[in-house]
Amino acid sequence: MNASKQMPMTEPPTTERKDDRLWGGRFEREPDAQFDAFQRSFSFDRRLLPYELAVDRAWARALQTIGILSETEVRDTIKALEAIAKELQDDPSFLDGSTAEDVHHFVESALVHELGALGWKLHTGRSRNELVATDFRLFLMDAAAGLQRQLAGFVTAIAEQAKTNFGIPMSGMTHMQHAQPILLSHFLLAHAEAFLRDVTRLQHAAEGADSCPMGSGALAGNSFGIDREAIARDLGFSRITANSLDAVSDRDFALDYLFALSGIATHLSRLAEDFVIFASQEFAYVILPDEYATGSSLMPQKKNPDAWELIRGKTGRITGALVALLTTMKGLPTSYQRDLQEDKETLFAAHDQIATMLAIATGAVAATKFNTERLRAAASNPLLFATEGADYLVHRGLPFRQAHDIIGKVLREAERQGKVWTQLSLEDVRKISPLFEQDFLSGLSVEKAIATKVVPGGTAADSVKIALAALQERINTLQTTLQSTLNVEAKVKAKSQTGETK
Ligand code: ARG
Repeated sequence: MNASKQMPMTEPPTTERKDDRLWGGRFEREPDAQFDAFQRSFSFDRRLLPYELAVDRAWARALQTIGILSETEVRDTIKALEAIAKELQDDPSFLDGSTAEDVHHFVESALVHELGALGWKLHTGRSRNELVATDFRLFLMDAAAGLQRQLAGFVTAIAEQAKTNFGIPMSGMTHMQHAQPILLSHFLLAHAEAFLRDVTRLQHAAEGADSCPMGSGALAGNSFGIDREAIARDLGFSRITANSLDAVSDRDFALDYLFALSGIATHLSRLAEDFVIFASQEFAYVILPDEYATGSSLMPQKKNPDAWELIRGKTGRITGALVALLTTMKGLPTSYQRDLQEDKETLFAAHDQIATMLAIATGAVAATKFNTERLRAAASNPLLFATEGADYLVHRGLPFRQAHDIIGKVLREAERQGKVWTQLSLEDVRKISPLFEQDFLSGLSVEKAIATKVVPGGTAADSVKIALAALQERINTLQTTLQSTLNVEAKVKAKSQTGETK
């Protein structure tokens, strides 16, 4: 049955291999059925098919350069690869019936089916170890660009709310205690900053992925003198990986990506927490949009912030994916190990989850109405002006610590009289410090407390206006940059439509 040993080197007859596995030659018995199912990865790595096809094309061309494939063979191979790309684009359901072990096996089987023995030539001098690393890097660069686009849209939605609600004060809190009044727009822009950092983190992960492993072989390199630089250029990589052993071992780019996803999730979770609190009756700062809330099966009055709660809840999975891969990587010997196959499933799932979470968060932020009366009322709580009171005394020459102490005494006096402290008489406060003048109590207001914070990055309206304009500028720059990064998947599709082979 196993006739491969007698096969002539040039034209191995397709019918005389024991099976179409990529590695069956030295095996006598079939794998255990349960183990076989356990080791297969096609169910999830089929997602890498567009990238695998792009790498295959580049490899075919590189094999021609070194005389392994003839011009006609390259043309036929690329034509067959294009046909798969086209089928993938038209109706990916043809993948469902496949019994391929993994995406690499899938392509080889399809090529052999189409081209006979020529299909076996493409794998000359290469290994699935370098292929999977290359495919995964390409996927990740596209995925990062996709999420960056979504983040740009999300930050735009936040900026829109900041513009719409410009001038509305709210109570700024620390330790969940009322602290100082701020502008609602300032609060919203704080979230925008965090999500812009996530854009940078994704960029960092994408740059880490931007080195081409092809030519690294299984671990040792390539013995056919393949032009690694040409393949990297062909695939749109900026550079080649520097060490073949590292190239098949390394998944730092995936870890960086998962860290960036965990950052997004953590920031989304914080925003979610803010909105859940704001939607409570005690705060009532926001009116939950019907589109992003659900009711109770028992209590007719309920309107629950489920969109935000689920976003907050799903953050566990994302951080979990990061910890899962870190744990897989820990203690692996240098070189390719099959454990590395575990990198994909959780990363794909985490990526998809983040994409959905961002889409929902964008919709929910855009649809949220702010209860400006409640926000203003909370911001007008005189306790929030205590620091302004101390500042008043500082302006009259008192060291801050003493000023702080005096306002503390004023607050205690108000408490004793059962009054709000700003309603104490001038006489009462002057008993505590003669530095208080007529203008003191009348000078305490939300507007003034906010207007004094006129530093760059502060909450004064003038500062926030500048911050908003700067944010808009950053979003525009980001969107322009993102527009120019056409992803590999799109390039593969474009080529399959035009039938372009170069
Ligand atoms: N499915 C494998 C993975 O995802 C591809 C590489 C397999 N290499 C091997 N020598 N078995 O990592």
